[in-house]
Amino acid sequence: MSPTGDQPITIKALQRRKARGERFACLTAYDASFARLLENAGVEVLLVGDSLGMVVQGHDTTLPVTLEEMIYHCACVARGRRRALVMADMPFMSDATPQQALASAGRLLKEGGAQVVKIEGGAVMAETVRLLSGRGIPVCAHLGLLPQSVHKLGGYPVQGRDPEAARRMLEEARLLCKAGADLLLLECVPAALAAELSRSVPVPVIGIGAGPGCDGQVLVLHDILGITPGRRPRFCENFLTRTGDIPAAIRAYVEAVQSGRFPGPEHSYE
Ligand code: KIV
Repeated sequence: MSPTGDQPITIKALQRRKARGERFACLTAYDASFARLLENAGVEVLLVGDSLGMVVQGHDTTLPVTLEEMIYHCACVARGRRRALVMADMPFMSDATPQQALASAGRLLKEGGAQVVKIEGGAVMAETVRLLSGRGIPVCAHLGLLPQSVHKLGGYPVQGRDPEAARRMLEEARLLCKAGADLLLLECVPAALAAELSRSVPVPVIGIGAGPGCDGQVLVLHDILGITPGRRPRFCENFLTRTGDIPAAIRAYVEAVQSGRFPGPEHSYE
């Protein structure tokens, strides 16, 4: 199923795609116009990412983004979408405790029109995932590189390269699924580990810098259009240079993801 059909994209629809081995495309969106354009180009999941702090607001990290700002951008995206699934990031410290996370996620769904919330963190977030899931709020658990932990990590390094870290990530992924996570997102993880993890969990896994073995792929919109300031990360590709037109660039990205041409080894980590 794709948003060019009639049916809305739901978590269940993504689960069916995983079961059939069909890859799906996700991109970040921050406003109504791009939400509509992305959906019309076949993007199934619109991520209102806290990356907006960097690509829209001009901050150095995602940390300054507030819940109010996330709700504002999410509502803009929700007004532009018809069928795509809208997923919103829980901004830094809006999920500091399970109860706070429940209140923040509730606002993202009620006021922002989000259908899924994304939470950064592994085992430490299991209780929060259990609480939200138990209250009927779909959750995507973000593992691997956690941009909100940039100061603890000292940058944005690839995660899970040593065997102990890889084992821990697999264990945390299973734990979060047991706690009720409906989706997982893996950022900057060796391709072999991401493929093993995707095979070993029942829920769809979305990758960014995690190789071709995930069930879906996500990139930051500004990266695929080549307008992100500074150095482009290895896992991105500028789809605008060879298409010369924004809707065509988005369609090229969707087609490359669905056909398995993106990401290639040049976008992946060992
Ligand atoms: O905020 C965001 O855009 C994200 C993606 C990088 C996955 O979390």
